[in-house]
Amino acid sequence: MAQAGVTKDDVQTATDHVVGLHDVTFSVLDGEIFVIMGLSGSGKSTAIRTVNRLHDVTAGTVTVDGTDVARLAKRDLENFRRDKMGMVFQHFALFPHHTVVDNVAYGLKVKGMATGERRRRALEALELVGLERYCLSLPRELSGGMQQRVGLARALAANLDILLMDEAFSALDPLIRRQMQDELLAMQGDLLHKTILFITHDLNEALRVGDRVCIMKDGAVVQIGTPEEILRNPETAYVAEFVKDVDQGRVLQVESAMSKPSPVVLGTTVREALATLDSTGVAFCVDDEGKPCGIITRDLLAGSQQRSVEAVMMTEFGVTTRTALLVEAYELCAQSELVAVVDDRGILEGRLYALDVLAELGEIESKAEQVKAADIAEGKA
Ligand SMILES: Nc1ncnc2c1ncn2[C@@H]1O[C@H](COP(=O)(O)OP(=O)(O)O)[C@@H](O)[C@H]1O
Ligand SMILES: [Mg+2]
Repeated sequence: MAQAGVTKDDVQTATDHVVGLHDVTFSVLDGEIFVIMGLSGSGKSTAIRTVNRLHDVTAGTVTVDGTDVARLAKRDLENFRRDKMGMVFQHFALFPHHTVVDNVAYGLKVKGMATGERRRRALEALELVGLERYCLSLPRELSGGMQQRVGLARALAANLDILLMDEAFSALDPLIRRQMQDELLAMQGDLLHKTILFITHDLNEALRVGDRVCIMKDGAVVQIGTPEEILRNPETAYVAEFVKDVDQGRVLQVESAMSKPSPVVLGTTVREALATLDSTGVAFCVDDEGKPCGIITRDLLAGSQQRSVEAVMMTEFGVTTRTALLVEAYELCAQSELVAVVDDRGILEGRLYALDVLAELGEIESKAEQVKAADIAEGKA
């Protein structure tokens, strides 16, 4: 019925069966954090649970590193789950009477690893999540955030290539949750390089941690893209509605709002500089290596009796990089007319102009509005 186009609700009314997933296709690349995001009931857990066959797939295929998961015989499936991927759930599922370190080592014990070795591995994993000092505590002696870290350590201790995280951070308080996101990203960047399938119902979280994000609704995929693609080009009113709720400055990088610097070099005369200023009326001065040294403005130049720009330029200005988050540049934008965007050698590669930042945020907002309005007009939303 779903294949014939009957909606999830209508299938349920007619048959009392729920369409778990329908026409869901995506691939997760080696070493990426792929996020599935959607409201509760949209099919996220169903999707992730097909990957290690906690749910059987009735149509279509799930392939992990060339293995067709549906074809694994019982024993092979057990090995596959144990050797290939770790899973972290929303509810920590720790053994209440086991110490933290024993909880983390449990999976290794099941694998038959010797006591000393599995303790060593468990302690290493606890160190990764910053809980080595609590190794002998019981779960109930830890806060929710700490228990979730234990859950994560348990998955890390197994040292598997793939991590499945189903709303692993969703039960945490907002601040702790942000901290966990940061830690996950830091770990992933430094040394984990795992392939992570991460599930959340929070688009802010999705855009923050995801290399790519898949948005689901009613058991189907609505849109897949990088965080920036999703923000800039929401394809439906459903996605646009989420985008309007996102803190865009924490997703977008400076790069998205910076423009070509068109600087003047030191030694340029005031008169020449005046002639080259564009409509913004401000520009950077750079030295002969291309490093920014100051800012000139039309007003400064016009009122000056000096001969060359270095006598006139203001030498106080903010400096940022292409990959910094836009929020990190807000304050800099308020402090000087232009913010310098420099590469790792300190050479000017762009400029950030406060009005461009506002224009960028405004554009995303109005794009989301347009998509919503268009979908409503077509009767889709
Ligand atoms: N064990 C189950 N039996 C019947 N329906 C289920 C079961 N688990 C989930 N569902 C239904 O499948 C749909 C998707 O659920 P789920 O994948 O858990 O959503 P999510 O994780 O996005 O909140 C929902 O409509 C839910 O009611
Ligand atoms: Mg779920």
